Amino acid sequence: MTYLVTENCIRCKYTDCVAVCPVDCFYVGETMLVINPDECIDCGVCEPECPADAIKADTEPGTAAWKTFNAKYAALWPNISEKAEPAEDAAVWDGRDGKLLEVFGDADPAVA
Ligand code: SF4
Ligand code: F3S
Repeated sequence: MTYLVTENCIRCKYTDCVAVCPVDCFYVGETMLVINPDECIDCGVCEPECPADAIKADTEPGTAAWKTFNAKYAALWPNISEKAEPAEDAAVWDGRDGKLLEVFGDADPAVA
């Protein structure tokens, strides 16, 4: 089991999750973060910390494609271990539909 970062992180990037992770398994892209599923120890402490409710356990329905997405980008992006400033217009993007398609060019996390 692992936790995963999902769509609502995109262009919000609050990074409260990073501050509490005991194993520093978050990786940072230009518009969002991901979790390395091989490094996450399933402690669950990051999930309630995300103001955007973007972190899900992989036991939740519909998260399989997000596991593929998180693993893919964790291998490509640098590690982040300290909280940073949120995205400048985070409040505008928080909760917006269709962010994955708009920012990554595909609505399927397994493809994006
Ligand atoms: Fe880190 Fe725990 Fe969240 Fe996994 S569940 S990403 S180990 S804080
Ligand atoms: Fe993203 Fe939530 Fe962390 S918005 S950066 S998963 S606190």
